[in-house]
Amino acid sequence: MKTICSLLPISYPLIQAGMVWVSGGKLAAASANAGILGVVGAGSMKPELLEKHISKALKLTNHPERLAVNVPLLYTKSKEQLEVALQLGIKIFITSAGSPKTYTDWLKGQDSKVIHVVSSPEFAIKSEAAGCDAVVAEGFEAGGHNGRDEITTLSLIPQVVDAVNIPVIAAGGIGDGRGIAAVMCLGASGAQLGTRFVATVESSAHDNFKQAILSSHSGSTMLSMKKYVPVRLLKNKFYEEVKALEDRGATKEELEKLLGHGRARLGMLEGNLEEGELEVGQIASLIHDIPTVENLVQRLIQEQRMSLPVGCFF
Ligand SMILES: Cc1cc2nc3c(=O)[nH]c(=O)nc-3n(C[C@H](O)[C@H](O)[C@H](O)COP(=O)(O)O)c2cc1C
Repeated sequence: MKTICSLLPISYPLIQAGMVWVSGGKLAAASANAGILGVVGAGSMKPELLEKHISKALKLTNHPERLAVNVPLLYTKSKEQLEVALQLGIKIFITSAGSPKTYTDWLKGQDSKVIHVVSSPEFAIKSEAAGCDAVVAEGFEAGGHNGRDEITTLSLIPQVVDAVNIPVIAAGGIGDGRGIAAVMCLGASGAQLGTRFVATVESSAHDNFKQAILSSHSGSTMLSMKKYVPVRLLKNKFYEEVKALEDRGATKEELEKLLGHGRARLGMLEGNLEEGELEVGQIASLIHDIPTVENLVQRLIQEQRMSLPVGCFF
């Protein structure tokens, strides 16, 4: 079976997802050290802060080639973020929340690999046409921002695999080795895990946020703000405020105003479980511990090997 290990300089076909307020230099370096792709999430960082996190990751790992940066393209500073990362020697970029045409050519011209996050086969085809090396196909179960079409990972992966010739990395609802084995059976060449990595020792999520994941149950998350920027949230007081606004037909501007108070930072980094925004995927209720990244990766690999049909081992 061909995995993303032939495209990327990693030992296991796994990506620790880029996540606002969660995946800083420490988490990315721990992931690189554990043999997978470690991603610094630039979404919540000004270019100067991104520079600090990449530098920190470079200090903490002997595998700089396994470091990547996720740049959501909806922010105004995305070009500067990409420039900072390039200057520090980053060669792998995961772009999301925007058109794959915007920077792919330019990044490829700088000897980089570009992976774009998509939520439908149509966007995957556009990403391939734009020259991307691979796509992350992210299902509706995923934590964080999400596609509007509500396509689940189980339905999405085989459709994207059939639609493009570049490697497809599955994301959304993968929390253990069984999930990794399942998406590889669907034709994925690797898996990207987000929520699972929030609850690790090295993630910069506040401990209250990690504990909230451990206490969650199967109905604890909901896709919100579909009119504005769809995002899957852990249900709390902030979620109820968003829902109340949506139920009475609030405008995009009203939702923007509610979010404008730094709610994501308040919830995920500062640990305010009532007033803060907590981005979490449906798989949260399968998570029962806060391991180190090294222990988690070893466990995922063992579980995946035990779950795959014979002949599918990597
Ligand atoms: C707390 C959190 C923050 C996230 N932030 C980003 C982000 O900044 N950029 C992005 O492309 N995806 C973001 N995501 C999505 C992840 O990169 C990943 O694709 C997703 O978490 C996979 O689904 P899972 O949570 O079910 O594992 C975020 C997810 C979480 C849980």
